[in-house]
Amino acid sequence: MKKIMLDVDTGIDDALGILLALRCGEVELLGISTVNGNVSVDTATANTCKILDLAKNNTVPVIRGAHAPLMRKPVFEHRVHGQDGLGGALKEVIPSTERIRKDSFGPDFLIEQVQKYPGEITLVATGPLTNVALAISKYPAIVHELKELVIMGGVVRGFGNVTPTAEYNMFVDPEAAKLVLGAGFPKLRLVGLDVTRRALLTDEHIRSMGDSPLAEYVAASTADYMLRYYERNGVQACAMHDPLAVAAAIWPKLLTSERYYVDVETKSELCDGQTVCDFQNRLQRAPNVDVCLEVDAEQFLARFVNALSQTEQ
Ligand code: BDR
Ligand code: CA
Repeated sequence: MKKIMLDVDTGIDDALGILLALRCGEVELLGISTVNGNVSVDTATANTCKILDLAKNNTVPVIRGAHAPLMRKPVFEHRVHGQDGLGGALKEVIPSTERIRKDSFGPDFLIEQVQKYPGEITLVATGPLTNVALAISKYPAIVHELKELVIMGGVVRGFGNVTPTAEYNMFVDPEAAKLVLGAGFPKLRLVGLDVTRRALLTDEHIRSMGDSPLAEYVAASTADYMLRYYERNGVQACAMHDPLAVAAAIWPKLLTSERYYVDVETKSELCDGQTVCDFQNRLQRAPNVDVCLEVDAEQFLARFVNALSQTEQ
């Protein structure tokens, strides 16, 4: 079993990433820290608890993290994820909150777990990188003690999804993203829009999950998300950004990456949050990131559907 921790801003696709980790049967999920992003950190925490309840899990702890980016104001993404962050699917549900570790803070919990299992944990961050940046600032050795950091964020060859150049997670806290990318992680993989936009979940995939409360939830939470994707792209589907990052940690061979120097813009009116990838080594800096550029999307989606079709374990 792979030891994994998730750092999430639980919106629709974060939730699907959590479900993938829980249901794939290959992961020991040590904990989930939450961060301000798509929704407030309190809503992200409540949503995470709702998803764990839905999956009938009562072992994974949830730890509330940063309530705002390092230096900027929050920028919520209700436009995409709905007012509640889960496309309205679990709006009336009251989560059980006993699993929230009220005595801890997201970045501290990350540090604690890495100290407990040095060299063993893969951290998958699918929200703004505020918690990860705070953990590095408090405990710089985390960079060498994590087995790997997988980040859903950025785009190096295409357009942004919140500004013309920036992907949402990078845009919300670019100072944190810059700190994390520049921290010297020996193994840091970036799963950006370059690949996540090719991993599209359709109604057909959802139908093939069969009849179960989980399949019903996936259909309900993605319905509006798919409509908005359709309005913009003319395709009835939704991009599986965060689940693909989780899959990258579980099944690394689904993606192909190349190693480059990547930095994040923080001082530009138009380009803040842009991930700048030095493909031609113009800056002559040591490569710091494995940038995912290809994905076997069909295989990923098949594995995702299969995992979510599994009954409780
Ligand atoms: C990322 O932004 C968020 O809205 C999603 O949850 C995902 O993590 C995609 O750009
Ligand atoms: Ca997210």
